[in-house]
Amino acid sequence: MSRKPLFAANWKMNKLPGEGAAFVSALTELVDRGVAADLMIASQAPMLVELKAAISASPLPCKLGAQNCHWLASGAHTGENSPELLAKIGVQSVIIGHSERRILYREPDSEVALRVRAALERGMDAILCIGETKEQFDSGKSKEVVLAQLKASLHEVPARTESELVIAYEPVWAIGTGLAATPEIVKEMHGAIRKELGALGYSTQTRILYGGSTTPENIPSFMALEDVDGALIGGTSLDPVKYAALIKNGLI
Ligand code: PGA
Repeated sequence: MSRKPLFAANWKMNKLPGEGAAFVSALTELVDRGVAADLMIASQAPMLVELKAAISASPLPCKLGAQNCHWLASGAHTGENSPELLAKIGVQSVIIGHSERRILYREPDSEVALRVRAALERGMDAILCIGETKEQFDSGKSKEVVLAQLKASLHEVPARTESELVIAYEPVWAIGTGLAATPEIVKEMHGAIRKELGALGYSTQTRILYGGSTTPENIPSFMALEDVDGALIGGTSLDPVKYAALIKNGLI
């Protein structure tokens, strides 16, 4: 069985009230409701309720996404979001371990693993992000670093879960730089991730996304690769016209 493509939008710390709903209605006009892909939009937490209403009113196969979650249901954790609350308000998918969280906010693999498990246990999909820095890439350590991150971030995660585990390979040097990885690099890394997932007992249906400066122009070169099952999209996903074009071109 082949894996259905997933084009997941990561809005990061962008967009203001009203803009989430406007985006979804514009996207609904641009993308065919029968599109052969899954979509997901992850907004900042305060916009989730607005976005949920807009997504529910749209015929598009789009999930509501959050950009992180804590592992505990409640407690004294100022600034964090409870997985319990996110699930209750209708979040269906959570991005976890994004390099911006790992680097700027020092989230270690051990916490990432707990966050992934917490999301999955509450019935939400978890999009686990992994990727090497420029320095690690330059010193030829990419594969070693990425596979170690994968293993450590899955440490708490059972191989069989009802909710979906998705992996996103995002080289840090390619994020927001306009300098996407080459298809050769992506092919090799996704192949290695696929192999490692198999060795760890995860399903062959686990989707592996590429992320890092994806555009409507470069997406076909990634989607042509066997182990690329979609993309985690930052900058390009902020504009409904560009996001729709990326989805369309990614399916050719
Ligand atoms: P980018 O971001 O598409 O803007 O490079 C990707 C990401 O950080 O998920």
